[in-house]
This record gives sequence, structure tokens and C-alpha cells, in this order.
Amino acid sequence: MAGKLRIHIDQDKCQGHARCKALAPELFELDEFGNAHEIGDGSVPKGLEDKAWLAKANCPEIAIEVTEE
Ligand code: F3S
Repeated sequence: MAGKLRIHIDQDKCQGHARCKALAPELFELDEFGNAHEIGDGSVPKGLEDKAWLAKANCPEIAIEVTEE
């Protein structure tokens, strides 16, 4: 049984491509500059794990970290 996932966006790397938000709007929000932030504390609700990995894989800047707790 896999542990709970948590996402974190490296603000130094994020360039506002917004693919994360398009792929997983439940997990990411964009600020007024278009940079992504994790919603809440970044913990991934059950059932959204695939979207977390998908967003990570699709960020051109490799700004999204997914960690397993
Ligand atoms: Fe930023 Fe990557 Fe999303 S560059 S807006 S974290 S797709």
C-alpha cells in the first residue's frame, strides 16, 4: 500500500507553463503572475495520485516534486 503523496512546486524553477493546472486543477492553482502553487498544504487527496504524477511528468521546468510520506 503506497503512502500518501505530497506535491511541492519549486518557485525558482516554475515558469508558468500552467500544464499542471490544466492536468490537475484539484491540486494546483496559479497566482497573479501565472506561477503554480500547491492547493492547501500540498497533500494529494486519495484518488488523485495519478494526476499528481502526470503533472510532475508534464512540467517542462521539472518544477514539481512529488514525495511519498
Ligand atoms: Fe510551473 Fe510547471 Fe506548472 S512551470 S505552472 S509548475 S507546469
